[in-house]
Amino acid sequence: TKDRNGISQVLLRSPRGASARISLHGGQVLSWKTESGEELLFTSSKAIFKPPKAVRGGIPICFPQFGNRGSLEQHGFARNRMWIIDENPPPLCPIESNAKPHIDLLLKSSEDDLKIWPHNFEFRLRVALAVDGHLTLISRVRNVNCKTFSFSFAYHTYFSVSDISEVRVEGIETLDYLDNLCNRERFTEQGDALTFESEVDRVYLTSSDVAVFDHEKKRTFVIRKDGLPDVVVWNPWEKKSKAITDFGDEEYKQMLCVDGAAIEKPITLKPGEEWTGRLDLSVVPSI
Ligand code: BG6
Repeated sequence: TKDRNGISQVLLRSPRGASARISLHGGQVLSWKTESGEELLFTSSKAIFKPPKAVRGGIPICFPQFGNRGSLEQHGFARNRMWIIDENPPPLCPIESNAKPHIDLLLKSSEDDLKIWPHNFEFRLRVALAVDGHLTLISRVRNVNCKTFSFSFAYHTYFSVSDISEVRVEGIETLDYLDNLCNRERFTEQGDALTFESEVDRVYLTSSDVAVFDHEKKRTFVIRKDGLPDVVVWNPWEKKSKAITDFGDEEYKQMLCVDGAAIEKPITLKPGEEWTGRLDLSVVPSI
């Protein structure tokens, strides 16, 4: 671990040299690099690496609310909290190998959080890096309350792309989506793939894998997920970029958020129940 602004960060390194860096602030993955040292996640040049807010980039965790629908701050409080290292996490099911570099983090309800969201939870996050550099995030949320609660969730993943106009998202054809730009109205995707020429802010309803094809870089991000029935696709485009203070005016060209998420139907946990949401990210060369 190393410190930035007094906040611990954990560095994972695969035997072949791929790496990932995770901050205890928000349990946020801040960097994911290939064996050749190329950064795969976007971070804004205007990002602020100090609490209280999440860093603009990487993979902030949205929990227990996605967006601004609900009583909590936008995207919930988990991304703004200090997490701790979980030295002795309960075993994962199915069993995950402990051989690859990984870190286990834990967030529990604080007294203050219980005032705004009165549900006792334990949130365990594992981030693991495979030998081939692929990145796995496993979230486990347990209800340690005496009442049922519901939440929504997203791994708000900022992919780094060379030029947004050369990018397409595949695997979403014919799917239904909720359009955040139209009051979450439901539409059906008509195109073969999603390309970008204006602001996009959608929740696609799909448990299947999706891919982000970067034509200029000749590479594809493959997003596999489990327990996450939705995929958010977000690019703020020109006008909205100017309104986001910790985001450069032109940076929308170099990023695309594609999140494994559970939004349309919130996850409901009875006392003692646990939910698992798993995201596997890999990058493959493409022609
Ligand atoms: C997206 C939302 O996922 O996150 C957008 O759909 C939102 O509406 C964006 O603007 C960024 O949110 P924030 O709180 O990190 O600025």
